[in-house]
Amino acid sequence: MANPLIEDVRNSSDIVDIISRYVPLNRAWSNFAWCCPFHKEKTPSFIVSPTKQIFKCFWCWKAGNVITFIQEIERIDFWDAVKELAKINNIDITKYDINTQKIAANSDEKWKIKRMHTLAQNFFKEQLKNNPEAQKYLKEKRKLSDNLIEQFWIWFAPDNYLELVQLLRSKWFTNSDILEASLAKENANGEIYSFFRRRITFPIFDIMGNIIGFSARVINPEDKPKYLNSAEHKAFEKSKVLYWLNFAKNNIREHEKIIIVEGQMDVLWLAKLWIPVGVATSGTALTNEHIKILKRYTENIFLMFDNDLAWQQATQRALKLFYQQNLFPKIISLPEPRKDIDEISNEENWKNIFNECLSKAEDWFIVLYNRLRKNLDMTSPIDKQKLINTLFDVIISVNSLTIQEHYKDILAKKLGFAYEIIDTQFKRYKSWDWRMQVMQNQRIQENSKPEKYQLERERLYVSILYNNLINKYLQDFDKEQTFIEFSQALWKASPNSLIDKTFRNDFTEEEKTKIDELTLWRDQQLEVLNGNEIRYQHIIQTLLPIIQRELQIALKNPKISAEEKSQLLVMRRKL
Ligand code: UTP
Ligand code: MN
Repeated sequence: MANPLIEDVRNSSDIVDIISRYVPLNRAWSNFAWCCPFHKEKTPSFIVSPTKQIFKCFWCWKAGNVITFIQEIERIDFWDAVKELAKINNIDITKYDINTQKIAANSDEKWKIKRMHTLAQNFFKEQLKNNPEAQKYLKEKRKLSDNLIEQFWIWFAPDNYLELVQLLRSKWFTNSDILEASLAKENANGEIYSFFRRRITFPIFDIMGNIIGFSARVINPEDKPKYLNSAEHKAFEKSKVLYWLNFAKNNIREHEKIIIVEGQMDVLWLAKLWIPVGVATSGTALTNEHIKILKRYTENIFLMFDNDLAWQQATQRALKLFYQQNLFPKIISLPEPRKDIDEISNEENWKNIFNECLSKAEDWFIVLYNRLRKNLDMTSPIDKQKLINTLFDVIISVNSLTIQEHYKDILAKKLGFAYEIIDTQFKRYKSWDWRMQVMQNQRIQENSKPEKYQLERERLYVSILYNNLINKYLQDFDKEQTFIEFSQALWKASPNSLIDKTFRNDFTEEEKTKIDELTLWRDQQLEVLNGNEIRYQHIIQTLLPIIQRELQIALKNPKISAEEKSQLLVMRRKL
């Protein structure tokens, strides 16, 4: 049976009107047409029918109704699309009995989470009014005007463990609801207390403008970490959320520019000083999915980071992600000595300074080249080779052969090699054999370290048992908290002796090669970046036969206690 809410939403949304918000449709006979927003094209294949209320692209074959269109273009699930359309059409969805209508259980959960965040937001707003210390921090220390504070919804989480929790409970949310939303933590007695305390709060919005999390900054420099971010939950997938994008998206389309910055403060200053086209990731490194989302608004992408560490972490890996999606971003460098936009903003002619930086923004590849060069000795052939290999590794991610050629050419010119040399070397580099050879050499060096396999065994053991925590640790900026959880887990397992009993030292040559390849690959990734890309899962999958065999042997070991045995069984179950 049709759901009345869906019926009403479909009846009151004209597909032509809705799609016109995204592409400038032209009349074509009885239909409307334009270039398809779902793929790149120069001649329109995208048709919208006002009579049938459907759209269809005759090139990429995407088709559907108004709800599917919103789902696809905003990349959201069905019920969020319905809600979005309801919002546009002023349909009050609280009038529909959402529970009895059985809106997907998943969406219900999200609904609850968003509701709790709205309540928290109002609470934080009230708290700022009552807290002179926080007001002083924002106005005097950070020089934020009342307007800017309002515009960016910057409020304050008080130094109080229970008030917010009690407020949410009074609205019938349960402890587990509040924990799930990452608005509270649980102590050893099972009591819950506020997650954010004595911090100014920046709300994190989804693309629809719902609040789904907070990033909260200390006002006392002694408190750590500087920023505390909500943990991931059903409505907050860090790999998909970009701070401020929901507000910036129209400016981004209009100005055909997006600037990716490091954090909330940079987004804020950019909006104040220039145009609000800045977005930032929320406590995580840039992902494939972030880039896919950005690409929908413009392909003219700039990045601006203020500190060198962030740079090094971001550089190679992120650049490859862009290349894989055929994007060639530019880097905005602020004047040396490196300042962040916060500092520039105090200078008188900041607008000119910034505009000049923007017009001088350089192709990321060139910036990377210059940065790598700085740390290498260009008179050393080994260093030169290192530089070339690193950049080859980046160029490999570019899909287009002509663009690959463009970058190889730059490299040849910069280093003073004939293009053919670079090109031949590149082909070699591309072949797997060549890379294997590099690995072999490295392996011979590493094999001389006796502790290597011991360490690997420990890593493996911990990886299997605490896989979730490791993944979380690698992705999360709030490493401190995850690290504590992680160490506690480790400590509880006290696996040292067990590892010795479980994993033998006498791996076969073939097994050693496998472990080497994987660990070398992993360590390289670790070097390049903050580890986000490391897929322990993948390592474990590849090593599965070895681990299973080791477990089998360990379980038969008569020296193993009952408790250890049960741990091994847990481990086997996890495989
Ligand atoms: P920065 O340390 O550069 O902060 O971190 P900032 O943007 O300059 O902020 P102010 O001016 O000191 O207040 C940049 C971003 O990295 C994330 C936050 O999103 C922050 O905005 N971050 C930083 C964390 O998630 N946790 C931290 O402990 C620190
Ligand atoms: Mn900063």
